[in-house]
Amino acid sequence: MYDEQVSESQNREADVAALLAELKQQASLPLESAMTLAPGTYRSAGFLALEIEHIFRREWICVGRIDEIPNPGDWFSFDLVGEPLLIVRNEQGEVRAMSNVCAHRWARLKTGRGHAEQLRCPFHAWTYDLSGCLRGAPFMTKAKDFNPHDIRLPEFRLEIWLGFIFVNLDPDATPLAPRLTGLEEQLKAYPVVEQKTLSHVSETWDANWKLALENAMESYHVFGVHPKTLDPFLPTKTVTILPGEAGYNIHTMKSTLAPKAKSTFLRATIYPTLVIDVGHIDRMRLSWQTFMPLGVQSSCIRTGAAAMPGAAGLLKDPGEGNDMANAEDRPVVESAQRGLQASRARRGRISHLEAPIWEFTRYLSARLCSDRSV
Ligand code: FES
Ligand SMILES: [Fe+2]
Repeated sequence: MYDEQVSESQNREADVAALLAELKQQASLPLESAMTLAPGTYRSAGFLALEIEHIFRREWICVGRIDEIPNPGDWFSFDLVGEPLLIVRNEQGEVRAMSNVCAHRWARLKTGRGHAEQLRCPFHAWTYDLSGCLRGAPFMTKAKDFNPHDIRLPEFRLEIWLGFIFVNLDPDATPLAPRLTGLEEQLKAYPVVEQKTLSHVSETWDANWKLALENAMESYHVFGVHPKTLDPFLPTKTVTILPGEAGYNIHTMKSTLAPKAKSTFLRATIYPTLVIDVGHIDRMRLSWQTFMPLGVQSSCIRTGAAAMPGAAGLLKDPGEGNDMANAEDRPVVESAQRGLQASRARRGRISHLEAPIWEFTRYLSARLCSDRSV
């Protein structure tokens, strides 16, 4: 039994090493010769473990928008690959990311989103202030050398970029903003910071997180998957790929709904998990999606919609367009996940319109292969 387990884990390591070698080789190809990732990268538990270690626990992960917690005391919880986080706006108005685990006996402090003057643990009512300092611990008077003031919830790195909240579990991570300066330049024509969140929904898709993310980052599929809903207004034939950088990729389309001077619609993917859409269609809306693994073949997809203040009242159902697009994307993505389990599934060639996927491949290789001898 033990031998079997050892040999299974050796096999798994060999599989992951082969996938990494393939990834590195793919990332070295020019766009004209580019291919998809190997099917195994979407179905390997070992590969996901590596992604969690080198991407999700070390990279800047978008957890939401600051306007979702506008007032001191507003909070929401977020699970980042098993790390329970509590995002709170404290008494000073600062947004902080804290551990959502009680310092007593590890109960989860909060679930969902809400507003509180203090953070009270549901287990034995230890109470923390909005900066995570312990303020009350009932029936602890006989505990020797126990001083609540010595105890506070651990904090994680947090950065706010154009109104998006990013958290990094790695205390030594390099800052996020410098790698996005080129994208910020491209976004100058669009109000992003000012947009107010109108809706967000979470769904679980039966697909590897990369498969769902890749679908969202390219618009090659728009004419195929959304022929009646999106393509008439944002046609695939108008896709223009702009040069990306190490931290993001970007492309534009032309909206048939907006006046010509304002018809440029922009889609950017901020690695590893955030895709944003901005444009002048539909009253200057902003949409975004995030992609988190729940397992090898299961992902949490969060979709948010925002609009400029004042435009909000004009929108009947702010999330309707996103819901419609998701309802069309999801079956195709889940079917591709089933397809790549086929014994004869191989890497496919990709179009120049899928340049974002090619750029993402290079990002993955840089994160996963650079410090290994593959
Ligand atoms: S676990 Fe939180 S008060 Fe006991
Ligand atoms: Fe789509």
